[in-house]
Amino acid sequence: MKGIVLAAGRGTRLYPITKPVPKPLLPIYDKPLIYYPLAVLLEAGIRDILIIVPPGEESTFSDLLGDGAQCGVKIRYKVQEIPRGIADAFMVGEEFIGNDSVCLALGDNIFYGRDDTLKQKLLHAKENDGATVFGYYVDDPRPFGVVEFDAEGKAISIEEKPAHPKSNYIVPGLYFYDNRVIEIAKTVTPSARGELEITSVNNVYLEQEQLHVVPLGPEFQWLDAGNAESLLEAATVIRNLQKESGFMVACIEEIGWREGFLSTEELAAVGEKMKATDYGQYLIALSQRKL
Ligand code: G1P
Repeated sequence: MKGIVLAAGRGTRLYPITKPVPKPLLPIYDKPLIYYPLAVLLEAGIRDILIIVPPGEESTFSDLLGDGAQCGVKIRYKVQEIPRGIADAFMVGEEFIGNDSVCLALGDNIFYGRDDTLKQKLLHAKENDGATVFGYYVDDPRPFGVVEFDAEGKAISIEEKPAHPKSNYIVPGLYFYDNRVIEIAKTVTPSARGELEITSVNNVYLEQEQLHVVPLGPEFQWLDAGNAESLLEAATVIRNLQKESGFMVACIEEIGWREGFLSTEELAAVGEKMKATDYGQYLIALSQRKL
């Protein structure tokens, strides 16, 4: 399975902060936002990753993540020339995906699961046929894709940013698809806001009874960093989770090491390069098995 992080949005809802800096590179406490969706792909065991970036920003992203060697994966970059919407990721990434299945993670979505709960869900989603998305309860679902369930808990509709949501369950920015997604995405037409909506892709799978909607219960946290308020909230949540557990959330080098993508020596070497920070010290402590 291939992995795509869509990091091509302009982040206009965060202006002026994102005028010179793409949103996925903003800090969430002690690491850039893009580490969080990348961590999810690594946690799912995905090693072949494409990051879709805005025009002119390839080097900004590659200055941070290079070719992925720092966490034992292979990272490539591709520009989305025109922000056509999330479903366009499958056209931009067509060649990269090839004949494989693919997991798409949005560059501004943060997922956290207690213990190894997230890993279990991800590994399960990878095994499913068709498409797999998640359902997460929020108080105000209106800005998101919203899933409606029947009395048996079966998903019966998904609506993008409905004025009158049919449930409080939103579909967060993490999607698993078989290879048909490329052809399905090509059939999608722009929505009222002029975008190729991922919800339209999901509805095709739903109509074909090929969509799995997996609920994420209270042991999970999902955060999006859509505006200044949620950016600050996300940073606070991550700091608290890390202080309580003593472990970092979304430390991509740690996950690469635990997955066996990176040796202990390589982990120590990455830590050494950042040893002036708590982040670097954490990697060094891990490599010495002090945690
Ligand atoms: C996008 C999707 C929406 C999804 C959300 C998650 O919204 O269109 O279905 O729930 O991401 O962050 P957007 O960020 O484009 O408003």
